[in-house]
Amino acid sequence: MSYLHSYAPGEQERLRRQAELIQPLLYQGWEQLGQPSNILEIGCGSGAQLTFLQQRYPKARLVGLDRSPEQLETARQRTQGVELVLSQAETMPFQDSSFDLVCLYWVLEHVADPEPILSEINRILRPGGWVCLSEVHNPSMYFYPECPRALEFWKAYNRRQKELGGNPEIGVQLPYLAREQGWEMASFRTFAPNLYGHTTERTEREQIVQFWLDLMASALEQLKGQAHPAFPEVELELRALVDNPRAVIDYQARQMLARKP
Ligand SMILES: C[S@@+](CC[C@H](N)C(=O)[O-])C[C@H]1O[C@@H](n2cnc3c(N)ncnc32)[C@H](O)[C@@H]1O
Repeated sequence: MSYLHSYAPGEQERLRRQAELIQPLLYQGWEQLGQPSNILEIGCGSGAQLTFLQQRYPKARLVGLDRSPEQLETARQRTQGVELVLSQAETMPFQDSSFDLVCLYWVLEHVADPEPILSEINRILRPGGWVCLSEVHNPSMYFYPECPRALEFWKAYNRRQKELGGNPEIGVQLPYLAREQGWEMASFRTFAPNLYGHTTERTEREQIVQFWLDLMASALEQLKGQAHPAFPEVELELRALVDNPRAVIDYQARQMLARKP
């Protein structure tokens, strides 16, 4: 299966580090969801977010679904008390109205048409249930000082994602996708591990830069044979941001919380 980030073993570790870094940003505003008792994460990958969902909702039944046996095997090793299901999200083996919270993190960006997945979610969600979609908006990437090699690499990354049938701009399309399902949008916000002048701890600055380098590097396999700047040049530019107190990384991922009436 052609997949932008690949299913190599290093990818599962990257997803764990990614989930840890963004975890404090991901669950802001979720108090309004109350205490859901049946939760599904679609595209759970190696289970990185399942662990945090379990900590947040310890009494809930938690189900993780993914199309990749490799990812699910890692999820099986990393979680306890979670039901793991191998399936395409477009046709899920669940009854109507069986969940009161369905979450997706970085999944719709990888599909050519999100509609079949969203209408499946609508089917398995009970009335009054919540949907949480967290997705990329890759054109929003900004670096200061300018990092031309990194930006050029990022463009190649996004071109490749589109060639593979994905959508690196889906984050800003979430509100109309929700409206088409008849869902009521409760919040729509931006978040990301960004770097600004007030990020003073060196280890934190390194982690943020490393997060972006890891994400870009995860596409190297898929970028073989494609024109893009050599990765060591990208690394050089981005690592220079760690020691520059005026450096900025400003990226805007999107999270939407919506409710089925
Ligand atoms: C970038 S990973 C994110 C994993 C996890 N949500 C996280 O944040 O760590 C995207 C996952 O979605 C899964 N996926 C993509 N399209 C899918 C589909 N149509 N049906 C089921 N899983 C899918 C991939 O196999 C992959 O594990």
